[in-house]
Amino acid sequence: MSRTIFVTTALPYANGSFHIGHIMEYIQADIWVRSMRMSGHTVHFVCADDAHGAPIMLKAEAEGISPDELVARIAAERPKYLNGFHIEFDHWDRTNSPVNVELAQSIYRSLKEAGFIESRTIEQFYDPIKGMFLPDRYIKGECPSCRAKDQYGDSCEVCSSVYSPTDLIGPYSTLSNATPELRSSEHFFFKLSDPRCVEFLEEWTNGTDRHGNPRLQSEVRGKTREWLGVDEDGKVALNDWDISRDEPYYGIPIPDAPGKYFYVWLDAPVGYLASLKSYCKLKGLDFDALLDPNGDTEQVHFVGKDIVYFHALFWPAMLKFSGRKTPDSLNVHGFITVSGEKMSKSRGTGISPLRYLELDMNAEWMRYYIAAKLNSHVEDIDFNPDDFVARVNSDLVGKYINIASRAANFLTRHFDGALGFVGGTDELVAAQQELAEQVRANLEKREYGRAIRQIMAYADQINQAFDNAKPWLLAKGLNDAPESQQRELQDICSRAIAGFKALSVMLSPILPALAQRVATELFGLERPFVWLDAGELPTHIQAFKHLMQRVDPAALEALLTPPPAPAVTPGGEAIADTIDIKDFAKVDLRVAKIVNCTEVDGSDKLLCLTLDVGEPETRQIFSGIKSAYQPTDLIGKLTVVVANLAPRKMRFGVSEGMVLAASHNDPNVNEGLFILEPHSGAVPGMRIS
Ligand code: 2FM
Ligand code: ZN
Repeated sequence: MSRTIFVTTALPYANGSFHIGHIMEYIQADIWVRSMRMSGHTVHFVCADDAHGAPIMLKAEAEGISPDELVARIAAERPKYLNGFHIEFDHWDRTNSPVNVELAQSIYRSLKEAGFIESRTIEQFYDPIKGMFLPDRYIKGECPSCRAKDQYGDSCEVCSSVYSPTDLIGPYSTLSNATPELRSSEHFFFKLSDPRCVEFLEEWTNGTDRHGNPRLQSEVRGKTREWLGVDEDGKVALNDWDISRDEPYYGIPIPDAPGKYFYVWLDAPVGYLASLKSYCKLKGLDFDALLDPNGDTEQVHFVGKDIVYFHALFWPAMLKFSGRKTPDSLNVHGFITVSGEKMSKSRGTGISPLRYLELDMNAEWMRYYIAAKLNSHVEDIDFNPDDFVARVNSDLVGKYINIASRAANFLTRHFDGALGFVGGTDELVAAQQELAEQVRANLEKREYGRAIRQIMAYADQINQAFDNAKPWLLAKGLNDAPESQQRELQDICSRAIAGFKALSVMLSPILPALAQRVATELFGLERPFVWLDAGELPTHIQAFKHLMQRVDPAALEALLTPPPAPAVTPGGEAIADTIDIKDFAKVDLRVAKIVNCTEVDGSDKLLCLTLDVGEPETRQIFSGIKSAYQPTDLIGKLTVVVANLAPRKMRFGVSEGMVLAASHNDPNVNEGLFILEPHSGAVPGMRIS
């Protein structure tokens, strides 16, 4: 029976380029979608940029552009990656689209009407200099448990304890260094703790899809059981979910609540629906009918293990209680590491997908390798360079491609490309059909590694039969050989080529471009393979053209070596972009005399300087130079300050400017720290130009 399936991958934040983790998820989903389509099912496969939230707002601000512009710029670079890796979404949208605004607000209204929204006044940290409430990740301070310095507002990286930002000792805003203030404000909550919600989530997380398969993987179900659990007092562990943020915030306005916006995680998953809706409009499909809560469409989400909470609890509950269709299944994957190491952009490890493409490495090697490593569990996978070379060169090229390159030429040279079999072919056809069905079923279960092992075992079998028959001996002096010898050679090669075709069918969700070339160039088929093709013996082939190169270890080496820095980096940092004299004139540099200098209680980095800048009053400036100077060494010296820098409220007081100092950009390179000092004769207040 033909199925209709709505498939999504997680919507990536629109504040950065794709990394290999994104590409892995898209490849996983793309393989699944292609395989489903090969069975004749209708699949709508969509994604979008996740446009909202504080990080995007702040990044745009830092670049001097609007968040919309930032999102558009990031969106514009997506196709290069997606096309490059043969990832074929039907539609790619963005969550700041009018369709998403409308849908998110409508879902909110339905939730409110059903009694699932509550407003409460809460106290939160506010940055008085930035003029905004601070998300936890922008607050740092000392860990209340182990007193480790500079820990984030939600948990300690040193002792792993979890707390709230208000527990931090000496909290400060990472945006301005200001000491945050507690301010109260009205927030809106989605009542996850409502018994109806808990009851529904118990049922949904435990349930099966319409084919009787558990909706959640066992590991994921384990997690939701924990989250939905009750404590000793019988209290359900689920907390209500804070879905509002105060302005300034880049998000969707909450209806009837001026100055309030949806928290990005409220409207992000709604973006799944909005993307599908926009796609439906483009294609003339009926969106409402497609997502009828009682209809036949299956809704399947592919996501990473870090965002399970949102997808296994918030999202189904939001859909359910706004009267919409709930997801059928959630497919969760682990992370990808490189040679056992977690990716880190700053250290330059990891694999840049763009660099991979720019080095002209074959995208299907990566698809094959990732598929070979994936299974249906929430396990991390590792990209290991030696393993990559071995699997691509020995298995993919050495076993699979090799079959065609060995057998095809005999057929074209001696038989004009015609296939011919001696004896019955029923067994051959049945074996191929059975294997293809097993592979198909494993792909549907997302057991890709197992599917590939089955495919390669069959390739081994074909190669072995070919070797045993020694066709190169049969081909010698073939014109004078008896007819039976010719038939035998043709039979051996035909069986190998039939096997090659069946393998190509099975590999086509994983290697779509290669499979299409095989279909067209070798078998003269103008359409993509479907699963049924695995049981159709070819009758004729066209001349074999070279199909796939082996991995060049030099290219792989280049991929794994961080690209050279863009410019010479004196002092550890490339020279900044050119500015004109007007830009420079904006910075008011003055000669200053250090009239006093003291240590700062509670700070191991700062000194507090009292400076005469030629004004009636002295200024107080905090400077991170304690590691290099004794306060008494500085008193009486001249230095240089930025005199027109906006005052910054720090946790020890207000800093009214900045003292200039030189250091290596990389804090790990200890070349010292040096404040500037004008030649003698300069007088406090003189402008530096
Ligand atoms: O974690 C992330 O990258 C989010 N942008 C994922 C959102 S998925 C969906 F809900 F939109
Ligand atoms: Zn700690």
